[in-house]
Amino acid sequence: MSAKPLLCRVAACALTFCAMLLESGQVSAEANRVTFPKALDSLVHYTTVKRGDVTEHMLTTQEALDAVKLGQAIPNGTHVVLVDYRDNKVFRYFVMEKGDGWGADFAASRRTGDWQFQAFKPDKTINLSENSARCQACHQGRADSQFLYTFNDLKRSP
Ligand code: HEC
Repeated sequence: MSAKPLLCRVAACALTFCAMLLESGQVSAEANRVTFPKALDSLVHYTTVKRGDVTEHMLTTQEALDAVKLGQAIPNGTHVVLVDYRDNKVFRYFVMEKGDGWGADFAASRRTGDWQFQAFKPDKTINLSENSARCQACHQGRADSQFLYTFNDLKRSP
């Protein structure tokens, strides 16, 4: 028996799989509206999370911290940044940014309020191998806390 039919079947299967992934949009990395914050140094470092070899510094604006303390919505234009350090060097940046009506860019099932998500490399260019749909899927679980996992740290910050 020749191997050809089997190879054809494998190829057809791979194509179907790719089509499925494209359709669901689950693996396509993408640029979106998130920009790298122009003045990273002016953001407030409000908490640190340590996990094994990873140290995460969380930064945002004083205005965002004030809003959360007052029980208000974080203002549009806010960046929240997770700086992921390994061996005391920046390994990557995870950035959330909020903008007026930005949620409308996505189907309701993917939406995270008006927040969008992006991963950046240490040189601050977008890391297109990260999938921002995944970021949103996980952060959707925090819809009751303005989509932030460290919401209580913002509340408690000085
Ligand atoms: C599997 C769940 C999960 C995924 C996927 C995920 N995050 Fe998070 N994110 C968390 C958790 C949990 C924290 C709190 C810090 C911690 O425990 O490390 C967090 C914290 C953050 C923070 C700090 C603000 C906050 O919510 O506390 C930012 C910014 C952030 N993530 C951005 C991103 C981006 C950008 C992506 C995708 C590239 C992403 N996250 C993917 C779970 C996730």
